[in-house]
Amino acid sequence: MSVLPPQTRAEVEKFLGRTSKSKEIFEKTVKYIPYGVNSNYRAWEPYPIYFSRGSGSRIWDVDGNEYIDYNLAFGVLVAGHNHPRLVEVVSERIKNGVILGFEYENVYKLAEVISKRFNVDMVRFQTTGLESTHHAIRIARGYTGKNKIIKFLGHYHGSHDYVLVATKPNLYAAGHYKYPSKKPSGPGIPGTALEDTLVAQFNDLESVEYLAEKYGDDIAAVILEPVAMNIGLVPATKDFMKGLRKICDDYGIILIFDEVKTSGKLFGGAEEYYGIKPDMKTMAKAIAGGYPLSVIGGKKEIMEEVGPGKIPHAGTFNSNPLSIDAGLVTLTEVLTKEAMDRSIKFNMELTKAVDDVLSDEGIPHNIKTFGNSGTIFFTDEEIMNWHDFLRHNHIGLWWAYFISMMNRGVVPTAPGYDEQWTVSVQHTEEDIEYTIEKFKEIAPILKEDIPKMKIIEAF
Ligand SMILES: Cc1ncc(COP(=O)(O)O)c(C=O)c1O
Repeated sequence: MSVLPPQTRAEVEKFLGRTSKSKEIFEKTVKYIPYGVNSNYRAWEPYPIYFSRGSGSRIWDVDGNEYIDYNLAFGVLVAGHNHPRLVEVVSERIKNGVILGFEYENVYKLAEVISKRFNVDMVRFQTTGLESTHHAIRIARGYTGKNKIIKFLGHYHGSHDYVLVATKPNLYAAGHYKYPSKKPSGPGIPGTALEDTLVAQFNDLESVEYLAEKYGDDIAAVILEPVAMNIGLVPATKDFMKGLRKICDDYGIILIFDEVKTSGKLFGGAEEYYGIKPDMKTMAKAIAGGYPLSVIGGKKEIMEEVGPGKIPHAGTFNSNPLSIDAGLVTLTEVLTKEAMDRSIKFNMELTKAVDDVLSDEGIPHNIKTFGNSGTIFFTDEEIMNWHDFLRHNHIGLWWAYFISMMNRGVVPTAPGYDEQWTVSVQHTEEDIEYTIEKFKEIAPILKEDIPKMKIIEAF
């Protein structure tokens, strides 16, 4: 017998009924591709949904279901799908060659735009977020001559070994609240890669101070998501950021902001909000409107240590003309201050309406936003870090919310209870109104699904 409440069970059945072609494709795909997906975060039970196209604020799955898209490729498409200016610029570029094997004439233009908008002296380009954090850590190590790094419990910096630790442990594997465990994110990550990775608690300066005092002289960098967007959406407090900056200054540690996600949420990214300048930052996802581009930006004295015979940094696809031109048009003509402000305004409207509906229905919730992005924690408790998230958030309610909205033609967030939604510059007032209307419709389903038991409060 299913443990799901009747309305949620009906939603799951409806969802399976609407996605039969995805099931067929999965059965063919899983013979050749583990779990039928090429990124573990896309794996789903009982099968992933396969999509065929996107346009503006919409996407269509292989069964022909249309959705308003707030996943936007895990925050990549703040420009929306196929923005007309991007289509124009990229089509022109395709005619003139997408990779030239030498440096491309427009790189300095994009470097200048990024330097001014995101307040960095110098940059280097790559294609993925993973590469940017991987190289940034090497640069910090090369510059300081030290090896250890501090990362935070629940923060994600891409799929490479130095940071695949303490990403999403369960409550038992997460360890002590102040001294989180160094639990590798899975098999295959050598202990040697993690020897120099230390793990601290987010929003907890004592936890960082403890590590700094103990290992200070050996610590090259502190890397963090200023707004933790792999714990739903948990902003660092301003005091925490100030304290972190001070600890890094006191111990000669490079402070790296991983702005792979946040660089697309506010015009100037997280630094604009916090007013704290890191020594280096990494940016990716939204900055090239859907094309693969990542950036390491930093202070001149650090970045100038990258070069032949000095700190290694290379990549065949780095600064390919397609990504550079896409980045240039995205940052100058698509994600303009005006367009970003509009997406933020729509996000505020959406958030307020969702908050009101949940309050009216008496459903425990706590909504967090940053710029054009937001998430619902299904709890009344404050969530400051991954421990709080595991102890308080009702993940079952998140599932009921996600599936019920999908059945009504809305992908309400990136698919993952630890993710968030993003409003693009192509979403319209009508999209927001439709989404609110559908949210009102599903609230009674969530109400029925409020767990009767109290989730674990302590361990
Ligand atoms: C904060 C953060 N950093 C880095 C990455 C890695 O980016 P990519 O998936 O492009 O390698 C991600 C991906 O979600 C991320 O959220």
